[in-house]
Amino acid sequence: MERRKTHFVCQMCGYQSSKWMGRCPNCSEWNTFVEEEIVAGGGSKSTLSYTGIGGEGEVPQPIGEVVMSETSRIKTGIGEFDRVLGGGVVLGSVILIGGDPGIGKSTLLLQALNKIASSGYKVLYVSGEESIRQIKMRAERLSALSTQLFVLAENSLEKIIKEVKTLKPRVIVIDSIQTIYTLELQSAPGSIGQVRESSAILVMISKSSEISTFIIGHVTKEGAIAGPRVLEHMVDTVLYFEGNRGHPYRVLRAVKNRFGSSNEIGVFEMKDFGLSEVFNPSEIFLTQRSMDVSGSVVVSCMEGSRPILVEIQALVSPTNLGVPRRTSIGVDHHRVSLLAAVLERHLETHLYNKDIFLNVAGGVKVEDPAVDLGIVVAIASSILNKPIDTKTVFLGEVSLTGEVRGISQVEVRLKEASKLGFAHCILPEINRERIHGELPMELFGVSSIQEVLKMLS
Ligand code: TYD
Ligand code: MG
Repeated sequence: MERRKTHFVCQMCGYQSSKWMGRCPNCSEWNTFVEEEIVAGGGSKSTLSYTGIGGEGEVPQPIGEVVMSETSRIKTGIGEFDRVLGGGVVLGSVILIGGDPGIGKSTLLLQALNKIASSGYKVLYVSGEESIRQIKMRAERLSALSTQLFVLAENSLEKIIKEVKTLKPRVIVIDSIQTIYTLELQSAPGSIGQVRESSAILVMISKSSEISTFIIGHVTKEGAIAGPRVLEHMVDTVLYFEGNRGHPYRVLRAVKNRFGSSNEIGVFEMKDFGLSEVFNPSEIFLTQRSMDVSGSVVVSCMEGSRPILVEIQALVSPTNLGVPRRTSIGVDHHRVSLLAAVLERHLETHLYNKDIFLNVAGGVKVEDPAVDLGIVVAIASSILNKPIDTKTVFLGEVSLTGEVRGISQVEVRLKEASKLGFAHCILPEINRERIHGELPMELFGVSSIQEVLKMLS
C-alpha cells in the first residue's frame, strides 16, 4: 500500500518542512507546525482549473484598448464603509476583513450587503458559522431583508462555487474563511493550507467573473488573521475591525488598499439594531471629558484624511516596586517611556520613583507622531498637578533633544478643533509661521518643550 505523503506547515506563515519543528525558522513562532497531506500538483493545479487561466482566454492587450465596465465601483451606501474602501467596492476585488470574534464583522457585512442589494444588485451572504435561520434572525434585527439578498449556510467551497455560478451575484460575503474547506485538500478547515487554497480559489473566481468578494477572517490571539502573510498579499484590500468590547465604538481601519488610501478609518457605534455610522468621532471621544483635572490633554491626530480629536489622560504616582511602571493604553508604550525620559531631562525632576499610566480615552489607538507634545504635557500636568485649560489643543512631534518638530496637515486639524469650540492651540513654531490667512483660533508657536513647560508653571 502506498504511504501517505505528509509535510508540516507553519500555521502562522505557511513555511513548509518535512520534519516537525518546535519553532518556525521563518517567522520564529513557537509550536505552529501542523501535519498536512501533500496533494499531487501542490494544490495550485486545482486553482487554475476553476478559471479560464491556463487554457485559452486571456491574451495580452494594449492598455489603451482594455474595456472598462461602466460602473467599476459599487457603493455600499454606508458612508464610513465606502470611504475606508476608497469610494465603494471595486468590481472583481477581494476584501479581507479581520477582527476579534464578537466585534461585529458579520453584522457590518450583513448591513452593507443589504444596502447593496437594495440598490438593485444581486448579492450572496455565505455563512459557514450560522444556519440560515440564525442569519434571518440577525437580518430581522437589522431590518436587512432586501429581496436581492440571498443567504446560504455552507462550508464546502465546491458547493459554494456551484451556487455562485447559478445565482450569479455581484457581491459575495464569505463568513468566515476559517470555516470553509475545499475538497482539494485533506486538512481540516481553518488550517493554513485550507485558508490559503480556499482564498486563492475565491480570488481567481472574483477576478475572472467580476464578483466582489468580502472574506471575513477571525483574528488569532496573537492579533493576526490566521495565515496572515499568505492571505494579506493575495487580496486587494485588508480591513481590520477593531474596538473594545466594553465600548460601543468600533473602528474599521484599512491596512492595505490597492484601490484607495491605506490609512483611512471609519467609525461605527454598535446599537441594538446594528451598527450606525459616527459622523463626528471627535465629539464622541471628547464627550465624557474630565474638566479641570490635571493630566488631561486634548490632541488632534490624523486618521487617514480625517482629523480626530482625542483626550490623552496621564496619571503619575509614586512607585511601590523597585522598577517604575510605564503602562499605556492606546499609545505605544515604548514611545511613552521615551517621551517620559525627555520630559525628565527638561523638568529637572526624577521619574525613576514614579509610575506613569497613560490612556487614550474612548478606546482609540493613536499612532500619529503629532500627539507627542500632548503626551508630554499630560504627564507634566499630572506631575505638577496643574490642570490644562480645557479650550486648548496641543500639536507637535517631540524629538529626543526636546525640540518640538513640525507636523503635517495642520490646517485641517485646526479647523476640526475650532469647529468643536477649541479657542487656543499650541503647535510647532515652524507650522505656525507657515499658516497664512484667516486663523480659526488663537495660535501659540513653540520650538522646544521647555517653552511649553514654562507656560504650565
Ligand atoms: P457579530 O457581528 O456576530 O460579530 P463577529 O461576526 O465579528 O463575530 O456581532 C456580535 C455582537 O454584536 C454581539 O455581542 C451582539 C452585538 N450586537 C448588537 O449589539 N446589536 C445588534 O444589532 C447585533 C446584530 C449584534
Ligand atoms: Mg460572525
